[in-house]
Amino acid sequence: MTTVLGIESSCDETAAGVVRGDARAGRGEILSNVVFDQMDLHSAYGGVVPEIAARAHAEKLDVAVDQALNEAGIGLAGVDAIAVTVGPGLIGGLISAVACAQGLALGSGKPLVPVNHLEGHALTPRLTDGLAYPYLMLLVSGGHCLFLVVRGPGDHERIGTTIDDAPGEAFDKTAKMLNLGIPGGPKVEAKALGGDAKRFALPRPLMDRPGCDVSFSGLKTAVRMVRDGCIADGGMSEGDVADLCAGFQAATRDVLVGKSKRAMARFREEFAQVSAPGFAVAGGVAANAVLRAGLEEAAQEAGFAFVAPPLSLCTDNGAMIAWAGLERFEAGLSGDMVPKPRFPLAGNPMTGIWSGKRGAKV
Ligand code: KG4
Ligand code: ZN
Repeated sequence: MTTVLGIESSCDETAAGVVRGDARAGRGEILSNVVFDQMDLHSAYGGVVPEIAARAHAEKLDVAVDQALNEAGIGLAGVDAIAVTVGPGLIGGLISAVACAQGLALGSGKPLVPVNHLEGHALTPRLTDGLAYPYLMLLVSGGHCLFLVVRGPGDHERIGTTIDDAPGEAFDKTAKMLNLGIPGGPKVEAKALGGDAKRFALPRPLMDRPGCDVSFSGLKTAVRMVRDGCIADGGMSEGDVADLCAGFQAATRDVLVGKSKRAMARFREEFAQVSAPGFAVAGGVAANAVLRAGLEEAAQEAGFAFVAPPLSLCTDNGAMIAWAGLERFEAGLSGDMVPKPRFPLAGNPMTGIWSGKRGAKV
């Protein structure tokens, strides 16, 4: 059995967790999982302010680590390795976590394991459900949208991604356009309850094109146009907001479910020998109940076991970094400790379709 401390502060959660397990068994025990969010600090600005995030991480990281070790009932001497997110993410937060982990390693003599944040999400279905390699994964968060074939630690094939915005970004921007506050995803989901998803005709971008790539910027523009139309007609009522949120959420679900069907078909072709394939979903947007239901139905139709980790493990946390670190540590995989704002998990993201308007997408 291996015990690993994981540290995560790549966006706006300061997190530390301790996980114990055996990578060959592919299931771990979470001894602790401490997450401090920073919503109060950012809400006045309508989004995450990198400098504020970095300072808050620097203040809270040692508290999170201390609490995680205490709740796990062990000291630093009781861990076999210290795993830390080195990217992708906001540089200030990454530097804070890497410096914290390096200090702990120097003081304790424990080995360091650098972890890609996306691999933390991608390997979570193994921590929670012991899902066997290879499996298909949809990673949907505020910064990412990836269809991955996960073959092992450090061994991922990307078969689809977003060519512009991530779905969480689209949820957040929709919430902003409608003055719903942050975090955008849960606010839009709450408003959509009871809304008429069919009232406004919204696009399902890239559905007519082959492959598993997705796009959300056109959908976002369509939401803005509907909103502006309502305002020009005398203002947005509560009902208009509910209908637009429901319509946007349904369009996002249709795009992700439609592309998931293609990804499952492709996985079947590539891994015909896998008799009971798994389709896992993770990342903050996987917390959306309408999306989850759509994905689960599609998985069942395609004969895939559907794995959706509990919500607390879908959003950013330290246990997922500890688990990815544990798998990498046991496999003897190394990496450097340089913080990386952009850190592709797989594929060749620096060219052509993989480049969004704000740079290469991972
Ligand atoms: O994985 P995550 O915690 O952070 C990273 O982006 O890495 O994901 C956060 C994103 C945000 O864009 C948030 O609005 C979205 O996940 N989100 C949701 C829901 N809960 C969180 N989107 C839709 N529905 C939700 N219930
Ligand atoms: Zn994340």
